[in-house]
Amino acid sequence: MKLVFVEAIGRKVSSVGFGCASLGSRIGVRKGLETLERAYAAGVTWYDVAPSYGDGVAESILGEFASRRRDSVCVCTKVGMRPPKTPTAMRVLKPLSRIAITAFPTLKQYASRVRPTPFKVPLSAELIRSSVEESLRRLRTDYVDVLALHRPTVEELVHQDIIRAVERVVQDGKVRAISVAGDIGAGMTALDESLPYRFVQIANTPLEPNLEKLKERAHSHRTFITHGTFSCLDQIIARINAQKEILVALDELGYRGSPTEIAAAFLADYAFATNSAGVTLISMFQKEHLDFNLLRLKSHPTPERLNSIVAALEVGATDRSTGEPPGILQREFPKR
Ligand SMILES: NC(=O)c1ccc[n+]([C@@H]2O[C@H](COP(=O)([O-])OP(=O)(O)OC[C@H]3O[C@@H](n4cnc5c(N)ncnc54)[C@H](OP(=O)(O)O)[C@@H]3O)[C@@H](O)[C@H]2O)c1
Repeated sequence: MKLVFVEAIGRKVSSVGFGCASLGSRIGVRKGLETLERAYAAGVTWYDVAPSYGDGVAESILGEFASRRRDSVCVCTKVGMRPPKTPTAMRVLKPLSRIAITAFPTLKQYASRVRPTPFKVPLSAELIRSSVEESLRRLRTDYVDVLALHRPTVEELVHQDIIRAVERVVQDGKVRAISVAGDIGAGMTALDESLPYRFVQIANTPLEPNLEKLKERAHSHRTFITHGTFSCLDQIIARINAQKEILVALDELGYRGSPTEIAAAFLADYAFATNSAGVTLISMFQKEHLDFNLLRLKSHPTPERLNSIVAALEVGATDRSTGEPPGILQREFPKR
């Protein structure tokens, strides 16, 4: 496992982090615990969770796993989103729907469309204090390594009450460092050196390349970046399926197999190369996904190769603003 040093918490962690967003919702308790053990055995030491994940039970399941090896793993939880109020009928049917999705994986997209989603609550000093206490209880620990403000507004990030509240949970030893998990506006704001944020968590995909905008400033401010890429997997597969030229171009670059395998290989390469000094967050509940992604971590594609791949993906795609096909190599990866 490749390790990266995290200055804000003074330790090395695995460069691949386990995303627990589906732990307790799409994934049941037993399978979830088995998967977390498997990831840990493979060297994963970073676990990303939130009070809202897994219909509100992800923290409790992660706590059962993490409390057995508390100092060997890093836990990042969040504050600011509440789990949805799941109707009783849906809760009762959850185990059945998991069985159905295992048998017919295409049902997954329909299930995610009807599943109620977490909702944002305004940040306040009292919410931060009480949410941290509840998270610690569910996680069965007396500290978390990182607390992320979950989808904050820019106003919340600079509000003195919020700043004092996050500084207080750090001073009290309940949290080691503070992160901002949100969109590019929140991420850029978090890089202000006068603010207490030492981490940024953001989506970074070939279709939404946020790290290009963030990384240089983050590097000079010594802000640690954790990011997710696989959210666009279905869109990349659809693009490959719709345009055979993309498949041909990717084949020339050595990407072979089914459209899903090609898209996953490319996304893993893209994720690891664009944030090589940080942590890539991935949900990997299926054993083959964990094995595949960790194997891919060893592939080290060059920036030139990644540029060619992004260009290949754009073959035949239409620029939304002009209606014209986009130029090749619109988005250059830095060569360092
Ligand atoms: N701060 C935020 O607001 C926010 C937002 C989104 C995500 N996150 C965090 O980031 C984590 C990652 O989220 P994400 O949105 O990037 O997507 P994701 O949830 O990691 O991935 C989406 C899907 O990709 C599948 N997958 C993983 N590796 C694969 C492979 N090699 N081949 C085929 N499929 C593969 C996963 O399957 P399996 O799990 O079934 O194996 C999962 O269903 C989340 O779990 C969460 O911790 C945070």
